[in-house]
Amino acid sequence: MASLYEKIAKNHNHESGPFHTILKSIKQKYRAGMSGDFRVLDLAAGHGEPSSMIAKEFPNAHVTCTDISEDMIALAEASTVYLPNVTVSLADMADLQFESNSFDLITCSYGFMFPEDKNKAISEAHRCLKDGGYLMATTWNKLPFMKFTADIMTEVLGETPPPPPLNPMSLSEPNLFENMLKDNGFQDVQSYTSTYPMIVSSDHELKFKTLTMLVKDKLDEVDGWDKARRAFDALSEKYITVDEDGTCLVDGNTFKLTVCRK
Ligand SMILES: C[S@@+](CC[C@H](N)C(=O)[O-])C[C@H]1O[C@@H](n2cnc3c(N)ncnc32)[C@H](O)[C@@H]1O
Repeated sequence: MASLYEKIAKNHNHESGPFHTILKSIKQKYRAGMSGDFRVLDLAAGHGEPSSMIAKEFPNAHVTCTDISEDMIALAEASTVYLPNVTVSLADMADLQFESNSFDLITCSYGFMFPEDKNKAISEAHRCLKDGGYLMATTWNKLPFMKFTADIMTEVLGETPPPPPLNPMSLSEPNLFENMLKDNGFQDVQSYTSTYPMIVSSDHELKFKTLTMLVKDKLDEVDGWDKARRAFDALSEKYITVDEDGTCLVDGNTFKLTVCRK
């Protein structure tokens, strides 16, 4: 799962993707630089982004790169080992082990959709931020990628599947995340949307595994792999565009960057 996610996550390096968008927002907010002992906490950093980008761009800042998964933490450690201003740490964003008022900036790319208690995760970020510190978080608005997976599962199950237990779309309803942030004490809440394509492997098997990554357990449970493969083959043309050079793309993935202040 972690290594498959790492392959998808390469797409997020797109100029219009979450990492560069967060970086641009940091540069806007901290034009005057980051003075003194500037501490950044990156939540749900997966394989180590945007931690690495921030640490490279702002060598004076200290970045604490965190995730709940030991597999992800191993990847994050490997990808940041050459950066002296990064510390990698296992952390549940809904139950942070850090002191209150201890970070100048908190970032989170595609993380707040996953904790069961999202309000607790938001209140933990608020607690750990210093007064006046910013939270910058990206969440998905549209994910044709997931619609493809849902269509495959409709074929397998014979009915529309429920959302997966880890649902990347759980904060896609307009204003839902913004209102949760306000309810937890954040101010000056502003959101910006951006769209970028996802390149999927041209290797058939890898493409299939990537598209069924989030429903792997359900397919095991219902013994649905053969049906899923047939549905994947039948639906591929609807969702996957093939460029002149043979690159396979799922287009129209739209996310939101939300920036707010404690
Ligand atoms: C979609 S990945 C995002 C990774 C990276 N930030 C990126 O944008 O590519 C979501 C990450 O959230 C992590 N995660 C899920 N629940 C979490 C929680 N309660 N606390 C911290 N991390 C969590 C997962 O382990 C996974 O690495």
